[in-house]
Amino acid sequence: MLGRVNHVAIAVPDLAAATAAYRDTLGGSVSAPQALPEHGVTVVFVELPNTKIELLQPLGADSPIAAFLDKNPSGGMHHICYEVGDILAARDQLMQAGARVLGNGQPKIGAHGKPVLFLHPKDFFGTLIELEQV
Ligand code: CO
Repeated sequence: MLGRVNHVAIAVPDLAAATAAYRDTLGGSVSAPQALPEHGVTVVFVELPNTKIELLQPLGADSPIAAFLDKNPSGGMHHICYEVGDILAARDQLMQAGARVLGNGQPKIGAHGKPVLFLHPKDFFGTLIELEQV
């Protein structure tokens, strides 16, 4: 089921400061900010030779990362995104195995214009998992 690591996501309290740190201090190539109101976040991507880093800042009043940042005020690793070939087949297989899919179980369109789903962190050793169909 699992393909490549598409990205590792880090929640940050200040996206401009995080962009500057990744671009100027670490010398990374950072995309322009992209608002994703349906996901309650604004994101940038740092392009690396083998994968991407997604920097997430809350967007709107009920952002799903607000509580995470309350617990981790300076930011922290938020999720890891694996690529899958068929997200509905992956979802059905995972649910049959007892894994919990967040939300209503229907994929949403993610930052790359592709369907994504999130899996409950308690089912995967404390790590929130995003699946992206590629
Ligand atoms: Co992500």
